[in-house]
Amino acid sequence: MIEERQGSPMTATGNLTTAAGLAAKIWPRTTCLGPGGEISVGGVALSDLAARYGTPAYVLDEADVRHRCRTYAQALPGAEIAYAGKAFLCRAMAAWISQEGLSLDVCSAGELAVARSAGFPPERILLHGNAKAPEDLRAAADYGVSRIVIDSAGEIGRIAALARRRQRVLVRVTPGVDAHVHHAVATGVEDQKFGFSLSSGAAADAVRRVLAQPELELAGLHCHLGSQITGLSAFELAARRLIILMASVHAEHGLALPELDLGGGHAVPCLETDQTFDLAGYAERIRGVIRAECASFRLPVPRLVIEPGRAIVGRAMVTLYRVLAVKHVAGVRTFVAVDGGISDNPRPALYGAQYSARLVGRSVAGTHPVTVVGRYCEAGDVLARDVLLPADTRPGDLLAVPGTGAYNHSMASNYNLVGRPPVIAVRDGAARVLVRRETESDLLQRDIGL
Ligand code: LLP
Repeated sequence: MIEERQGSPMTATGNLTTAAGLAAKIWPRTTCLGPGGEISVGGVALSDLAARYGTPAYVLDEADVRHRCRTYAQALPGAEIAYAGKAFLCRAMAAWISQEGLSLDVCSAGELAVARSAGFPPERILLHGNAKAPEDLRAAADYGVSRIVIDSAGEIGRIAALARRRQRVLVRVTPGVDAHVHHAVATGVEDQKFGFSLSSGAAADAVRRVLAQPELELAGLHCHLGSQITGLSAFELAARRLIILMASVHAEHGLALPELDLGGGHAVPCLETDQTFDLAGYAERIRGVIRAECASFRLPVPRLVIEPGRAIVGRAMVTLYRVLAVKHVAGVRTFVAVDGGISDNPRPALYGAQYSARLVGRSVAGTHPVTVVGRYCEAGDVLARDVLLPADTRPGDLLAVPGTGAYNHSMASNYNLVGRPPVIAVRDGAARVLVRRETESDLLQRDIGL
């Protein structure tokens, strides 16, 4: 709980919010609640940021990102932690990930270009994609990424043909494991587009085809079960199944694969009542399963690779909005409309994701439930349902939504031709723009057809 105070950043982890406090587990680590309801992140008052950079704006806590990187590295010594850049990527983020010693998972030539421009070492980059475009594969070969994760039979020959030197690859396996997540992000089950089915034998066949290509070196097997996974048993089951496949590869080809990549998907709480992912439990149980299964097959223990995206960046960001309109629909609900919405955060509309909201610089006395909506021309443009805001919330108020670090900026759009918000990094009392606000001239520059 972050109670009202000045100075030291919060360290607590969790609990329910009181009317006055902020739930520590959903705000960036350096969040402070000051007098009069002011909120600061990274030592910078959110009201100052709004005055300097305008709204809406994504505010990114560098210390929080670095802390998550270190937490993962410490929890899983010897494992390779590859941050999934699709959650959020810009050049500064790539630089922080690189400085923290993590690897990077990219899934397009565009993400690779950002990583490359930040000088991210190619020997720590993996390329993903269920349908990689020729330019993705060319960019990967050109930069010399360390591994490409093979996801369809046709790309085996294409990657071999492009390789400048022996290319290390992983085969993405569909383990047939249901992690009980939203169907749009469930990727461990058979009926979805990613990977080679384990049960049908397609995965073992892909391994054979890769091994027949002298230009390719099979480094290991990969799977990714989905996103916002709270429990551990799905990961254990997938690890077990992949090691059984590793054992049959060993039996058939005499090859002990050196890497086992279990993907990402570790859940991050968006609401104070959401469950927190048990990273220490994950580390212990997954390592235990891998050790035991390998021992039973007399296989050497492969190096564990994981690919957290949301867990690294999800909590590090707050989106700042200005209230534009308040509408009381008698007998129905009160709508508080802000200057952003579905285009900077499509997750409530896409996945039913729930967020909380808090006014900045206002006392929270006399709160009542309202629905925070955006400014876009769509009734589904809802940011947060039934959140408690002061009864006298009015246009001009500043509103902060925490937990927006993952898949908000990266999935933002220009719907209604509104420019996308800037990303402002805060650290030790200083703020800097990482990604500037998209302007009307940016929008017009692409529109070349008159
Ligand atoms: N590895 C692979 C191969 C992936 O496809 C993904 C995410 C990750 C790692 C990272 O997953 P994470 O740790 O961030 O859950 N747009 C959706 C999420 C899509 C996830 C796509 N793949 C959302 O906003 O919830």
